[in-house]
Amino acid sequence: MQPDAMRALSIQGLQKSFVTQRRQVVRAISDFSLEVNVSEVIAVLGPSGCGKSSLLRILAGLDSVYSGTIDWPLRKSSDAKASGLQSATVFQSDSTFPWMNVRQNVIFGMTSLKIDRDAAAQRADYYLKLVGLEKFHLSYPHELSGGMRQRVCIARALATEPKLLLMDEPLAALDAQTRVVIQQELLRIWLQTKSTVIYITHDLGEALTLADRVVLMTARPGRIKTIRNIPFGRNRDAYELRGTPEFGELEVDLWRLLAEEVGQSLVMESR
Ligand SMILES: Nc1ncnc2c1ncn2[C@@H]1O[C@H](COP(=O)(O)OP(=O)(O)OP(=O)(O)O)[C@@H](O)[C@H]1O
Ligand SMILES: [Mg+2]
Repeated sequence: MQPDAMRALSIQGLQKSFVTQRRQVVRAISDFSLEVNVSEVIAVLGPSGCGKSSLLRILAGLDSVYSGTIDWPLRKSSDAKASGLQSATVFQSDSTFPWMNVRQNVIFGMTSLKIDRDAAAQRADYYLKLVGLEKFHLSYPHELSGGMRQRVCIARALATEPKLLLMDEPLAALDAQTRVVIQQELLRIWLQTKSTVIYITHDLGEALTLADRVVLMTARPGRIKTIRNIPFGRNRDAYELRGTPEFGELEVDLWRLLAEEVGQSLVMESR
């Protein structure tokens, strides 16, 4: 672990419970602690319902009802550029604005950045091309498929070139080929932007392809079951990586651990 100056995020003893409409208490997250360094890419994996989206919503500042502490050390910095405040979130469900066309959606994401309209439009076009939507820039969200709408959200988040990027299964609705193309682009972009990334995924291969560390959560209430360092460096190739023995070994190792939790989760849900 790096010295404190390099720390982007510190989570200590995070607990989250919900009270359902039928007044049942659902413990979603239990005793979750994690330190994340600046420019680190963390993938979070775990069975359905283990609290991943709840965690992301808390980190995005959208849910402040929890116990434990969450600290963003760089926010205290007086240097605005290094403050780590600039962040973007891609949610699990579609979060496009239906009254704006695709390009306006992406440009809207840049509202708080101090860049002029032309530069914002250029950036929007660049990131729309990257996600394969350049021909749809004038379309409205209801004219797109679910996967296309999700790509608009990805473009909107990436176009802000954020220091902190929170992503909740952003590629889940895409076909396997598009997914690998975008994974490769994410690797390339993060090399440039040096973003700190919390990336939630169900896809073990995707976690290994993108992350510096994979955090595997237990069945609900989610806590950390294990953390694996992914020794591929940042300058990696999403296509070639998959053919290496190291990738295969890590995949098998993590799959065994994940399968235990998926099994546990299914037993719980069926009770
Ligand atoms: N608003 C809510 N009210 C009540 N319970 C909730 C609420 N939001 C989430 N939960 C419960 O909290 C638990 C964790 O939900 P969460 O959405 O964080 O899971 P997840 O790990 O993101 O699952 P998935 O992989 O399916 O997206 C689930 O059991 C869910 O039913
Ligand atoms: Mg979720």
